[in-house]
Amino acid sequence: MAEAFLQSVYYENGVLHILDQTKIPNVTEFLEITKIEDAWDAIKQLKVRGAPAIGIAAAYGLLLGIKDVPESSFDDFYQEFKKQSDYLATSRPTAVNLFWALKRMDERARKEKNQSVAAIIAALENEAHLIRNEDEEVCRTIGEHALTLLQDGMGILTHCNAGGIATARYGTALAPLYLAKEKGWDIKVFADETRPLLQGARLTAWELMQAGIDVTLITDNMAAMVMQKGWVQAVIVGCDRVAANGDVANKIGTYGVALMAKAHQIPFYVAAPISTIDLETKTGANIPIEERDASEITEGFGKRTAPEGVKVFNPAFDVTPHKLVTAIITEKGILTGNYQEELPKLFQ
Ligand code: MRU
Repeated sequence: MAEAFLQSVYYENGVLHILDQTKIPNVTEFLEITKIEDAWDAIKQLKVRGAPAIGIAAAYGLLLGIKDVPESSFDDFYQEFKKQSDYLATSRPTAVNLFWALKRMDERARKEKNQSVAAIIAALENEAHLIRNEDEEVCRTIGEHALTLLQDGMGILTHCNAGGIATARYGTALAPLYLAKEKGWDIKVFADETRPLLQGARLTAWELMQAGIDVTLITDNMAAMVMQKGWVQAVIVGCDRVAANGDVANKIGTYGVALMAKAHQIPFYVAAPISTIDLETKTGANIPIEERDASEITEGFGKRTAPEGVKVFNPAFDVTPHKLVTAIITEKGILTGNYQEELPKLFQ
């Protein structure tokens, strides 16, 4: 496996280190976070982004919020724990990994309820490390499964960034591309620029170039033409939440990519760790979609590109209906049929 990527989120001696993804590709800089408020801000401002990385940052962020709670009864400790957890849960609404990680921390805290506060905090640090380390293994396995759907010589289109820096390591959608590279395959990747915040241009192109993978950057509105030319044999994207019926929320524009893939009879694959599957959300219509500030569109990256006062709609994600999804690739295998029936089996 290529060793090309950085660990974008890690925790050492009470400090949460976060690769500031808003500065890539110009500057590679790590934030050193010691307060939960700064962890909240890093998630909100997309300094750490990508569903699994958000979950990991939330687990460590919560740890920062409770690690100095003095010895007390469990009930007093838990009251403070809940307060801090509820606060972090307000940072971003769509990636279910955030809530999944907070829930894991909650379950661990309650499991240790008969211990001292110091021992509970130590157990919570351990749980956050587990969340991080497991994600690395999960991503690698997703890559191995996804690779069975690809072949040497293929052109692959991806949208947004579901790479190593969006996870503990390897990425989800990009994991098979690293494995393909390792096998010496000739894969040509088309990275959608991904308006308005350019995760494809800034992050995916940067990551793949660092790994020596052949990547061509296109703007989002070029994807149809590239498909029409026959340059794309598969689309693979990550996701922020899979509903119980297999509808998938991912970066705004993903739905359009799925429609284009369908029109060109190109398979549309979604790489999703089980931490991204939310059986409590019945369909895509129930997935909360984050809306972000208008300035991301009217003066993104500091330059005004629209008239002052123009009305703007800026959803950060869209939902691709399950009918357009050829397969959902998880660490437990590849689902292709009736998602409504297959997804619950992953949890058995
Ligand atoms: O707003 P972002 O940059 O956090 O959106 C990220 C995505 O849409 C990714 O595709 C998704 O989180 C999967 S990351 C493995």
